[in-house]
Amino acid sequence: QPIACIFDLDGVLVDTAVYHYQAWKQLANSLGFDFTELQNEQLKGVNRMRSLDMILQWGGVEKSKEEKELLAAKKNEWYVAMISKMTVKEVLPGTLELLKALKIQGVKMALGSASKNSSLILERTELAGFFDAIVDGNSVTSSKPDPEVFLKAAELLVAAKEDCVVFEDAAAGVEAAIAAGMKVVGIGNSTHLPGADVLIKDLSEITVREIEELKNPGTE
Ligand code: G6P
Ligand code: MG
Repeated sequence: QPIACIFDLDGVLVDTAVYHYQAWKQLANSLGFDFTELQNEQLKGVNRMRSLDMILQWGGVEKSKEEKELLAAKKNEWYVAMISKMTVKEVLPGTLELLKALKIQGVKMALGSASKNSSLILERTELAGFFDAIVDGNSVTSSKPDPEVFLKAAELLVAAKEDCVVFEDAAAGVEAAIAAGMKVVGIGNSTHLPGADVLIKDLSEITVREIEELKNPGTE
C-alpha cells in the first residue's frame, strides 16, 4: 500500500505560532496577567476554547460561558488581522519542495489541523492546491490529543492508518497521531515531542524516500 501524508498546519507548514502567541498574550494582558513561552508550548495543537480555558486557569481568572465566547472572539479578531497579511514567504523552509516532491510521486496528502482559520491561511500562503482533503477545526469535535482529526483525514484519503504518516510540531498532536495508530514525524524542538518516530527541525530535513522508510523500516 502507498503511504499517505497528513500535515498539521500551524508550526509545520507555516509559522503562525508566533501570531497565536501574540494574540493570546494580548488577551491575557488585557485581563491583567501574563504567561510564559513555556506555557505557550502547551497551547500548540490545542483548539481555541480549550486554549482559552488553560490561559484563564493560569491567570486564576474565572469567566462565564458567554464572557468566554466574547474573549475567544476578540483573540480571533486580532489573530485574523495578523494572518490576513500573511504571504508565501511565511511558508516554512523545505515545505514547498517536499509537498511538490510528494505530489509528483502521487502521494495522497491531507491537512489535519485544529484551526478554524486553515482555509484563510492556505489561501494566503498558496498551499491549498496540494491537499486532497482538509480536516480542520470546523470539521472535528474533539481537540488533539484526541485522534479524531487524523482518523477523519485518513478516511477522506481512503488510506489505512498503518499507511499514514503525520507531521506535527505539538505534543498534543504527536499524542493524537500515536493514538490514531500512525507514524509521526516531529517538527521543531526535540525536547517537547516525546514519542515521535523521527525528529527534524523543519521539512527541509526529510525526503519522500525517508518518509516511506518510516512505514517499512529496513526495506530497500
Ligand atoms: C492550532 C494551533 C493552536 C490553535 C488551534 C486553533 O492547533 O497550534 O495554537 O489554538 O490551531 O486555531 P484557531 O485558528 O481555530 O483559533
Ligand atoms: Mg501545530
